[in-house]
Amino acid sequence: MNAIARGRFLPTTLSSSSSSKNAWRHHAGKALAAVVDKRFLSLPTPGGTSGFQTVGCVGLGLMGHGICQVAATSGVHSKVVAYEKEQRFLDTGRDRIVKSLDKLVEKGKMTMEFANDTLGRIEFTTDLDALKDTDFIVEAIIENMDLKEDLYTKLGELCKPETIFASNTSSLSIGEMAAFSGRPDKFVGVHFFNPVQLMKLVEVIKTDQTDSMVFDKCYKWVEDIGKIPVSCGDTPGFIVNRLLVPSLMQAMAMVDRNDASVKDVDIAMKLGAGHPMGPLHLADYIGLDTCLFIVQGWVEKYPEEPSFFIPQCLVAKVEAGDLGRKTGKGFYEWDGDKCGAPAS
Ligand SMILES: NC(=O)c1ccc[n+]([C@@H]2O[C@H](COP(=O)([O-])OP(=O)(O)OC[C@H]3O[C@@H](n4cnc5c(N)ncnc54)[C@H](O)[C@@H]3O)[C@@H](O)[C@H]2O)c1
Repeated sequence: MNAIARGRFLPTTLSSSSSSKNAWRHHAGKALAAVVDKRFLSLPTPGGTSGFQTVGCVGLGLMGHGICQVAATSGVHSKVVAYEKEQRFLDTGRDRIVKSLDKLVEKGKMTMEFANDTLGRIEFTTDLDALKDTDFIVEAIIENMDLKEDLYTKLGELCKPETIFASNTSSLSIGEMAAFSGRPDKFVGVHFFNPVQLMKLVEVIKTDQTDSMVFDKCYKWVEDIGKIPVSCGDTPGFIVNRLLVPSLMQAMAMVDRNDASVKDVDIAMKLGAGHPMGPLHLADYIGLDTCLFIVQGWVEKYPEEPSFFIPQCLVAKVEAGDLGRKTGKGFYEWDGDKCGAPAS
């Protein structure tokens, strides 16, 4: 049962907890007295180094709820507007944030007051208009260019001219989305990793048209919210996935050619290359459908790139519905989160 259900959280509204800069500082200061996680120890400057006073988060799914939470927890924003199209998804996103804050309180990493203040800074809404005056908007809706086109066209028309947009896409072109927004100079990628609350890295992506001052602000924002930014151009997979996904495909190609077994490929990369988990174990963990979706998109768009190809065993497993951890079977048998023996 979470803290709200037990009546421990008393979510404050922005107007009651943070109606003025002094009130906001007062709350942040009080929270500091008992906070034990050093991420929450320094007194933040309103607006941080990026200068973003208000931030919007569009889409509160797996990634979006985490981005919204870390933005609100940083304490640098007077308001974080959390938008979902439908009330039921908004409620689910809010519940996820509450549960996550609750865990931090239970572990003694955050005071209940700080958690309440964090929640109080988030305005949950299904009204797109609520985003129009925000300084910076991070989008984390599902990975579909048609949906993103529709959203960015609307946001481009709705938001004040200074609002900067950022997409959390893993595999779509930042440049294409920037064009839909009608403000390509004020558009970047901010690629977070799952789970957002724990993973430190954020890849900050610039296109040829991104204004360098806009990029610097977004890079600073990532630091403001306690993450570590790296800079990358608008290239498929950015840094991490560009290197990681082809290496997973190579591992699958070795299985296709009978060069080595699933188990031996993974043991070799763990013990020989020092990787925490073998590539086929990792592919199961990510989801084989997700792996296939990413690489299919790349093959279609960049047919001349030799490191982008689709292994036969990947297609066969996806067609059989063996998607890895989430279905209980992929390259391995899975019991919930526990990886078992190689699948037959
Ligand atoms: N899942 C990952 O590990 C991961 C990692 C990095 C980046 N990403 C990227 O993050 C984005 C979101 O992925 P996710 O895994 O959080 O997806 P998800 O399906 O968990 O969440 C997407 C959310 O967007 C909402 N949504 C859809 N259309 C919307 C609209 N028009 N307006 C507002 N909300 C809308 C949905 O209701 C849902 O809650 C994708 O672009 C994905 O590529 C995902």
